[in-house]
Amino acid sequence: MRIYSRIAGTGSHLPEKILTNADMEKLVDTDDQWIQERTGIKQRHVAGDGETSSTLGLAAAQKALEAAGITAKDIDLIVVGTTTPDLVFPSTACLIQKGLGCSGITAMDVNAACSGSIYALSVADKFIQSGQHKKALVIGTETLTRMVDWTDRTTCVLFGDGASAMVLEASDEPGVMSTHLHADGAHDHLLNATVGVSSGLKNEPNGGLKIRMKGNEVFKMAVTTLGRIVKETLVANKLKKTDIDWLIPHQANLRIITATAKKLSMNMDQVIVTVDKHGNTSAASVGLALDEAIRSGKVARGDVLLLEAFGGGFTWGSALIKY
Ligand code: COA
Repeated sequence: MRIYSRIAGTGSHLPEKILTNADMEKLVDTDDQWIQERTGIKQRHVAGDGETSSTLGLAAAQKALEAAGITAKDIDLIVVGTTTPDLVFPSTACLIQKGLGCSGITAMDVNAACSGSIYALSVADKFIQSGQHKKALVIGTETLTRMVDWTDRTTCVLFGDGASAMVLEASDEPGVMSTHLHADGAHDHLLNATVGVSSGLKNEPNGGLKIRMKGNEVFKMAVTTLGRIVKETLVANKLKKTDIDWLIPHQANLRIITATAKKLSMNMDQVIVTVDKHGNTSAASVGLALDEAIRSGKVARGDVLLLEAFGGGFTWGSALIKY
């Protein structure tokens, strides 16, 4: 009999510090109206002193374990989606594992930028399907504001920090019905971080590390690519658009989310939107939206969820889940 994975519990954690659009107006030549009209963002959370991707991820993981009614001793796999690890090594997954006190189990990071949530979910799902692992913590955690160029108005208004987590457990029934992962490295010039360990840090503040994005070109690519992947997901599962109860999209831009909902002929009241409160939290964003939707009582057991994301790489992916 086929082994599936199902979501047993979710959690999330956001830093206390909030930067509103009014705060951004004091930093760069921008205004609340432009940010809201072009992106849908009203505010973003920013990690404070002592907060890192692993501390945020640990807090989210503890809430997901609590929601699943289990402890860290019950899990046998940790997969963390992050582009902003505390350190090059140990991995953020290992740091979170240390915080949870569950030595010995498998722990790894996955770097797929804003698609990190879907990539991490897919990896954990396949490990569980293999029969080798029974209970996994899937975490998306980011501190993107640590690599934002606060003088660049075209990017600094977009990003925020946060973490999300879910417990996936082996089950006789889905659960995760399918995941779909893609990447195309040919567009690296449109969205990237300027420096790295191997290519060399610069003798500048933060080692010269900044996010650079040709927003308009990324936007067009995101809209067409996400349109394609939602179709691919429906076809793979032999489902109609009307079979989807909730769209839980990556939260980069409200206009991208609306365009994807339109492709699915979905009303916006079937779409979970958190971009207004969180900004783009990269690998954390889909999980943050899912956790909020579950805790607010919108998403109920048995609902069919379509998760999707697009990000740097480019990478993109989707997951179809019976919650
Ligand atoms: N405040 C005010 N004006 C701004 C601004 C800001 N924060 N940022 C850019 N502008 C200006 C530009 O300078 C430009 O001015 P110009 O016409 O005088 O040159 C104008 O607004 C339009 O810029 P453009 O980049 O074409 O805007 P846009 O409508 O494409 O919106 C983004 C910009 C970044 C919001 C949008 O392109 C986007 O969301 N891109 C995709 C992001 C994404 O999904 N990333 C993938 C995952 S990380």
